[in-house]
Amino acid sequence: MCGIVGYVGRTTAVQPLLKGLKKLEYRGYDSAGIAVVEPHLQVYKTQGRIADLEALFTKGVPQGTLGIGHTRWATHGQPSWENAHPHCDCSEEIAVVHNGIIENYLELRKELEAEGHVFRSETDTEVVSHLVEKYYEGDLGCAVQAAIAQLIGSYALAVVSSRHPNELIAVRQDSPLVIGVGEEEYILASDVPALLDFTRTAWVLDDGQVARITRESVVVFDQHGEQQKPQTIRINWDPVQAEKEGYAHFMLKEIHEQPRAIRQTLAGRLGVRGNLQLAEEIPADLLHGITDVHLIACGTAYHAALYGAYLLQDSTDLQVHAELASEYRYKRVRVDDRTLAIAISQSGETADTLGAIRKAKAAGARILAITNVVGSTLAREADAVMYTHAGPEIAVASTKAYTAQLCCLGLLAAYVQLHLRGAYDPELLRQLLEIPDQMASILQACEERVKEYAGQRLAAASDTFYLGRGLDLASAMEGQLKLKEIAYVHAEALPAGELKHGTLALIEPGVPIVALATQPHLLDKLLSNLREVKARNGEVFLIAMDGERDYSQTADEVLLVPPTHPMLAPLLTALPMQLMAYYAATARGHDVDKPRNLAKSVTVE
Ligand code: G6P
Repeated sequence: MCGIVGYVGRTTAVQPLLKGLKKLEYRGYDSAGIAVVEPHLQVYKTQGRIADLEALFTKGVPQGTLGIGHTRWATHGQPSWENAHPHCDCSEEIAVVHNGIIENYLELRKELEAEGHVFRSETDTEVVSHLVEKYYEGDLGCAVQAAIAQLIGSYALAVVSSRHPNELIAVRQDSPLVIGVGEEEYILASDVPALLDFTRTAWVLDDGQVARITRESVVVFDQHGEQQKPQTIRINWDPVQAEKEGYAHFMLKEIHEQPRAIRQTLAGRLGVRGNLQLAEEIPADLLHGITDVHLIACGTAYHAALYGAYLLQDSTDLQVHAELASEYRYKRVRVDDRTLAIAISQSGETADTLGAIRKAKAAGARILAITNVVGSTLAREADAVMYTHAGPEIAVASTKAYTAQLCCLGLLAAYVQLHLRGAYDPELLRQLLEIPDQMASILQACEERVKEYAGQRLAAASDTFYLGRGLDLASAMEGQLKLKEIAYVHAEALPAGELKHGTLALIEPGVPIVALATQPHLLDKLLSNLREVKARNGEVFLIAMDGERDYSQTADEVLLVPPTHPMLAPLLTALPMQLMAYYAATARGHDVDKPRNLAKSVTVE
């Protein structure tokens, strides 16, 4: 989920490339680079800001009119000059920029190295430049087509070669790419904002299509070499709308990105037949001989920790605890070299989480980080890292990073079970593969309904309650935090069975209650708790999974999520609750992406 730009046209390429990259800065990045053909390939890179890249041209700008550029947000390999794009082949004639993940890059790299190719970075991308070099026989487009036939994964690619000074090759598979149409010039970009200063007319590439872009024309082919007519769009968004891909806020965009984010999280880790591939990330000695697991986190990530603890407890005999980092740091805990501490943090920079793992490490624990940010402090200090691969999350309230954390924890629980017991629940992994499509169908089916409910009921409430039992409790806790964070409505999550021990006194006519019912073995108990609520005229919005049950006596509104493995239900129920918080906040007129008194990354105690 980095940023791509490409240019071929009448003017020197550097300025339009830098201009395009600047428009993608909002997405977040750790390094940037461009390559220009003039007539040799010139590559400029920096581990830093676009301004640092621009500074490389103070002494003069190359005159080439063909080039590609990239802002990198690290996924494979630390943020560094070497890992920044573009990446070249051995002869330094071909340059490639890439968004997405090449799942089979390790195999390809081994093959290419055995054939004599020399790699200079740790990235998955570099295999593409060497593959294009390998297949090049005078036609760059054909070489790219042959190279992509070897790739498994998602990608948007832009490729140039010094042998073709008027040709930009672009291709996409599950990662967006648009071609802006100008007067004798074309600008290629992964995101619409990079086009807007040039043109409002663009061609959208479809999956598997390869575009051969020259100053004079664009020719698009499909996988079989058949020429295609590209789909033309007219862009009506203003620059601010374009950054959010037309969504009103980054939070809403990120909620909608979850199907794609989870596909990325699963990529390369779970094969189509449900086979797990985690040995590279989680070496066997990390798990060998462990007796205790401490899952440590703050905020939303702590709710993911609760989820992970539930899964590990359910599937192993380990002693498992979810711990709030700010508490863990200062309490007496039993931790030693048989403890695996799993730190979960979107940013990898949260001060309390770092403090807690330093304490665990000092006592001999092994540290596994689950984070979204490659090269973050947490990733650097941990013994092993599992990246969530959710892409940059810009809204302060965490949405896609949270579900990606749940996804990692699901994979991890199966992997730990396999390591300790020699087997895991294949059904859980099989169902995990279905989650992205199920998320997409929930978003499509429930948004309008949830918007109405949140705008009318939650936005007007002063107190709300979120109820669940078992794994649904962890989800309820995340649901109530979202509402507090951005809608500033008081919310409290409770184990449904605890209501009768006091809180029931607060249930009055019309008090909104969001209840979760996805755990079959607890469903009857939950429904009887809800009857107590209904007896006091509380107003229940139920998110349930079993479509066969009659909820008429227990809920005012029922939203069904598609059936999945009960352990995976939190990945689905999160979505309507995120939308509830979002629409309650917008109904109250709040700045959703920047809520009051809350920072994206809390680097103080
Ligand atoms: C802040 C953010 C939350 C986040 C928490 C932990 O409170 O506003 O959205 O869940 O920090 O952040 P981390 O980066 O460690 O996941």
